[in-house]
Amino acid sequence: MTVSPRPNNLDAFWMPFTANRQFKENPRLLVGAEGMYYKTADGRDVLDGSAGLWCVNAGHARPKIIEAVSKQVAELDYAPAFQMGHPKAFELASRLSAMMPTPLDYVFFTNSGSESVDTALKIALAYQRARGKGEKYRLIGRERGYHGVGFGGISVGGISGNRKTFGTMLTGVDHIRHTHDLSRNAFTRGEPEYGAEFADEMERVIALHDASTIAALIVEPVAGSTGVLIPPKGYLKRLREICDKHDILLIFDEVITGFGRLGTPFAVDYFGVVPDLVCTAKGITNGTIPMGAVFASSKIYETFMSGPENMIELFHGYTYSAHPVACAASLATLDTYEEEGLLTRAAELSSYWEDAVHSLKGLPHVIDLRNLGLIGAIELESIPGAPTKRAFSAFLKAFESNVMIRTTGDIIALSPPLIIEKSHIDQLFGTLANVLKQID
Ligand SMILES: Cc1ncc(COP(=O)(O)O)c(C=O)c1O
Repeated sequence: MTVSPRPNNLDAFWMPFTANRQFKENPRLLVGAEGMYYKTADGRDVLDGSAGLWCVNAGHARPKIIEAVSKQVAELDYAPAFQMGHPKAFELASRLSAMMPTPLDYVFFTNSGSESVDTALKIALAYQRARGKGEKYRLIGRERGYHGVGFGGISVGGISGNRKTFGTMLTGVDHIRHTHDLSRNAFTRGEPEYGAEFADEMERVIALHDASTIAALIVEPVAGSTGVLIPPKGYLKRLREICDKHDILLIFDEVITGFGRLGTPFAVDYFGVVPDLVCTAKGITNGTIPMGAVFASSKIYETFMSGPENMIELFHGYTYSAHPVACAASLATLDTYEEEGLLTRAAELSSYWEDAVHSLKGLPHVIDLRNLGLIGAIELESIPGAPTKRAFSAFLKAFESNVMIRTTGDIIALSPPLIIEKSHIDQLFGTLANVLKQID
């Protein structure tokens, strides 16, 4: 039997991370996008305050990327990356590795942030085994960490809603505490003064399990999806020192901080801390085509390259690793970033942005304001017994007022495209100030 498609029926799409029934009652449909704005189905221009999902760093509908993707589909639509290759994959890997400090010289391609995280965790485990330390099997994450939704990512992640319904997850995982400390750091501009000592939590975990059992620690340099937690001054350096002291790999999940979000190409540059593996995705193609990449240090890569030359060194990869269309999109994205200075633009705008974020101090419900680079967070006091409700009302009211924001818990997270102008910043925060005055 042929069933005819029902274009206006919203039933069949089981939407991700969405209250499906509530959404389908009153859908918010986007039908176009250009520059800083989305176009809605009812014809409104909505300012993109979150770069889609932290991915559209160069803004929407960028001509170079559109052209590169269209050309690539016609020229080479697909090529396997297992025992085969195509030139753009190698060109892109070289170009990406040149953007990272040495020794992060090698690039493994994935299709998403979640896959980048699972890839990095697997490389960490396989690396320990390859160098004869297979008993180092534990993975350490952090409370309130978000590392995507694969079983590896939710296991090292620390957001209970993402974990509690999915069984036992990976074994051999532990967590250090998060760095959020409202009592000492509320309303800090930039990096918080207090809390470098939270890194010593890693020493506690090491004392409990012994370093000889621990393969790697994974953290987001700036925790994003949990509500923008900026690392305290000196915290990441201390984590690096502790990992070095105990021969434990350090993995940075730069899925949101990568590609200019902090005003430097990567958080690695911003904080001056070089991990052993870096997970990226999102901004790598400006969100146009799914892609992710894991950067690995030469120490790790070379360890794998020591066996017989005819043997596959790492039994891992995806059908769409280094997909030609994604590679073309990424090369054009990197051109766009470079030509327009977008990877450092957040640094130029960050003080104007910081003032705008902190202009909301004193407005109803606001218990903290945080910022770094072109990231902002507005933490609201929760309605007793109804967590998330207040921020979600703000999200709906902002969308009605032609501004798109993201919320997580009762925190509004802001991360606009890096092409943002001061007038857009004024529109964003002017609208949010009104929204905060209107919601219960
Ligand atoms: C830090 C971090 N890691 C991993 C992911 C997962 O990325 P994806 O949704 O592309 O799988 C995200 C997504 O927001 C993220 O913020």
